[in-house]
Amino acid sequence: MTNTSTPHHVAIVMDGNGRWASRRFLPRIAGHKQGVDSLKRCARACDARGIKVLTVFAFSSENWQRPQEEVSGLMDLFAMALGREVPQLKSDGVQLRFIGDRQGLSGRVLKGIAQAEAATVDNHKLILNVCFNYGGRWDIVQAAARVAAQGLAMTEQHLNQAMALAHVPDPELVIRTGGEQRVSNFLLWQSAYSEFFFSDKLWPDFDEAELDLAIQSFGARERRFGKVSGQNEAGAAPTVPN
Ligand code: IPE
Ligand code: IPE
Ligand code: MG
Repeated sequence: MTNTSTPHHVAIVMDGNGRWASRRFLPRIAGHKQGVDSLKRCARACDARGIKVLTVFAFSSENWQRPQEEVSGLMDLFAMALGREVPQLKSDGVQLRFIGDRQGLSGRVLKGIAQAEAATVDNHKLILNVCFNYGGRWDIVQAAARVAAQGLAMTEQHLNQAMALAHVPDPELVIRTGGEQRVSNFLLWQSAYSEFFFSDKLWPDFDEAELDLAIQSFGARERRFGKVSGQNEAGAAPTVPN
């Protein structure tokens, strides 16, 4: 039995910005700027298709190891994009959430995050989780530390409740653009039963047609969750309740 429903939660590793720029003999930051536009387009397209949660990987805990110039360019772009885009996102009904380690982020970035989250907290049309200074291992460790600090038993359910994405169900579909077929420390816990779609499109070139291909591919998968073919009701993931 295939799974015909539209995913509720789509997560994306937005990869390929640097190559997009290099192919045009532009500095890598030009690709990241184009990536912001691609994200705006993608969020609108997800909303139009009835997707309720979009989680994107914008900056990993390992991305600090890039050349200083690129890291500071990314931080500046992030802070600028926040200031510029929040009013539109607010009126579009998008709720912004920032997922990741706040330690190590500048005061300017932290202020932008706090303002963006406060401005959109009452929106419920689309939840946009932006993973920034995020790593799947960091998330598991911080969740374990919280469970331990609360004196709770280290169970799957308690860990699940302490994870950074506890406010949304697990993603049914994870897309990675840019042609690489790896996870790169994204949603290690939450993607236990996600379907993966690897796109050769570089993130700035990711468009509605490619999103539709990913959704179509998702629709053709049989999600068995460890059971045998035909035994499972389509679409229902046996995750621990949040
Ligand atoms: C993804 O694009 C954005 C970030 C990791 C910040 P890349 O910058 O990794 O682009 P490529 O993979 O080098 O083309
Ligand atoms: C993953 O892309 C992180 C983001 C898209 C933010 P990377 O470009 O950092 O991943 P690797 O280095 O190819 O694994
Ligand atoms: Mg990359």
